[in-house]
Amino acid sequence: MQDRRIVSGQAAAEEDNLDMTIRPLILDEYIGQDKVKANISIFITAAKERGESLDHVLLSGPPGLGKTTLANIVANEIGKPIRKTSGPAIERPGDLAAIITNLEPGEILFIDEIHRLNRSVEEIMYPAMEDFVIDIIIGKGPGARTLRLDLPPFTLIGATTRPGLLSSPLRDRFGITCRLDFYTIEDLSTIIHRAAHILKIEIDNKGAFEIARRSRGTPRVANRLLRRVADYALVKGDGRITDELAVMALEMMEIDNLGLDNLDILILESIIGKFAGGPVGLETLAASVSEETDTISDVYEPYLLKLGLIQKTPRGRIATERAYKHLGLPVAGIKQDDLNFEME
Ligand SMILES: Nc1ncnc2c1ncn2[C@@H]1O[C@H](COP(=O)(O)OP(=O)(O)O)[C@@H](O)[C@H]1O
Ligand SMILES: [Mg+2]
Repeated sequence: MQDRRIVSGQAAAEEDNLDMTIRPLILDEYIGQDKVKANISIFITAAKERGESLDHVLLSGPPGLGKTTLANIVANEIGKPIRKTSGPAIERPGDLAAIITNLEPGEILFIDEIHRLNRSVEEIMYPAMEDFVIDIIIGKGPGARTLRLDLPPFTLIGATTRPGLLSSPLRDRFGITCRLDFYTIEDLSTIIHRAAHILKIEIDNKGAFEIARRSRGTPRVANRLLRRVADYALVKGDGRITDELAVMALEMMEIDNLGLDNLDILILESIIGKFAGGPVGLETLAASVSEETDTISDVYEPYLLKLGLIQKTPRGRIATERAYKHLGLPVAGIKQDDLNFEME
């Protein structure tokens, strides 16, 4: 599923090449996420000193926050190759067996969207992760027998936007679990300056700040907005990105000062206008704005929650006072009972 929206954290196909040039390659270049970095760096050093493979790592967080980047960095830092696949790509146990029996000792196996592994594949993953063995069934019917194969020690790095969907036996087999958070505006500004430098785009601090605060806490969005604003600067200005120019460009792209685009606004307007402020269930909400449920839950909702524009209650999503204010609506319609509910 690819998302064409400008503020989406998901990658568009044509972005891959550019991504390669600006993607940080070592831990020192990876900006922000200090806690995660500190943890990873300790585990890498320890694994190296012991001469063992690194413990399995689970990276979770919304799209575009740097999970794939971090997996590549870990491989670079421990100096081992990385083999990449994804949950939906491994259809049968045999597919996984073919991959893991061919790994080099210490190699990293990266499984993106690991919450989408099917159960039969997951089951052969357990002994592979725990004891570096795999049970292969040979033959069919009553004559079938199981063959146990030893695997080279390897490190599984799983990435997921939905850690809650992982089964607990799988989750329990990861020794290291890292949750990536939305980035601060300062970190995003640094990321923008770094990318601008690599792409030879001229930008000042205020220009970077204006882009950063509309980037939904997401490096991929920051880099994408930077390139769009740079195009605008070339055509409408002298190529330099100042705050004034950035604001003009971003307004033209209909991204508001919180980084919200039309769909975010539509979601808020829908909760308020069609469902009297909520609560409204995720599926109903998705249908009311004609979007896929997953897009709303993975891409849009986390940031609206983070900004405190919506809240989750057991009965559904509600719009907060801040949402009414952001849309310039009177706060009268809001139900205080719903607001006092805390979840997660
Ligand atoms: N911590 C970071 N510092 C600098 N750039 C980053 C960082 N995290 C992500 N990026 C940039 O954002 C892009 C998207 O990150 P990616 O790892 O593909 O996200 P995810 O796998 O979580 O969807 C990368 O290509 C990289 O350029
Ligand atoms: Mg990724």
